[in-house]
Amino acid sequence: MVKVFAPGVIKLFGEHAVVYGKPAIAATINRGIYVECERGDKLVVETVGVSTSLRYFPEERRTEAFGSERFFAYVDATLRIAEERWGALRARFVIRSDLPPSAGAATSAAVSVGLLKAYSHCAGVEMGRDELARLGHRVELEVQGIASPMDTAAVSLGGLLKIWTNPFRVEKIETSLPPFYIAVLPRRGTTGEIVAEVKALLGRRRSAMGVIEAIGALVEEAHVCLVKGDLECLGELMYVNNWLLGALGVVDGRVVNLLEMVKPFIYGGKISGAGRGGVVVLLPRDEGLVERVLSALGHVYYRVSLTQSGVSVL
Ligand code: PMV
Repeated sequence: MVKVFAPGVIKLFGEHAVVYGKPAIAATINRGIYVECERGDKLVVETVGVSTSLRYFPEERRTEAFGSERFFAYVDATLRIAEERWGALRARFVIRSDLPPSAGAATSAAVSVGLLKAYSHCAGVEMGRDELARLGHRVELEVQGIASPMDTAAVSLGGLLKIWTNPFRVEKIETSLPPFYIAVLPRRGTTGEIVAEVKALLGRRRSAMGVIEAIGALVEEAHVCLVKGDLECLGELMYVNNWLLGALGVVDGRVVNLLEMVKPFIYGGKISGAGRGGVVVLLPRDEGLVERVLSALGHVYYRVSLTQSGVSVL
């Protein structure tokens, strides 16, 4: 049996501006997607911990899953591309997630890249990380229509990365950072919809391009602070990045309230990813008090450490 772990990803700085040629800084975390593959006599995919609902028809004693169509769209596209590349495979895949889907933690990229890696190993093929990133990005483009290569590159390569998407380039940032917290708020809209609304705003209001420029400059400053391990600077820039994203219309009141409540106990915080809820990353000063506030507010949250490796066979 082959077992693969594909890490989730948090975006520390630069999302949205990355679509307009600025660099972004993203990091892999110790939570993500586990994929098992065992060869058998038919192709079957099982999921554990992937949110879905069941509809039961008592007269027919039949159960139907719904709410999982989007998730299986990634699985379908991945299996099609894998079959094209390495030939048909009869195997049982089990996909487990220890992160909520569609929240901005790159779970869709982790599913695509993790499944590709498991499929290739089950088929007896070793494949390079660059190719995994490229194929994973193809899956995201097919399913979402619009997607930068940031998430699939980070899941494939691992570590704290500075990423330019156009033309594509990645640079590893060497530093050591303490654990972060991620709180997960229900998300309003998909990445594609939110990215399209930001594009429309930039088309209507030329001055909003200044926000993109400011985020680009902020990422360079954050890079310096990351290398120095300067947490005060990082926290402050996380706040500034969040307000700049607010100017683009992707930070809602729930995020502002959450940040206000935990403010005394963190260096800084911001949304991670497209926004409108989803993942909020917090750099804690006092872990115990951050947890108390998040629990009292009833948020789903996780303590996450940054990791060095990308998708890997366990
Ligand atoms: O919310 P996510 O995890 O899908 O991240 C989107 C990041 C954006 O920069 C907003 C879009 C992109 O494709 O880079």
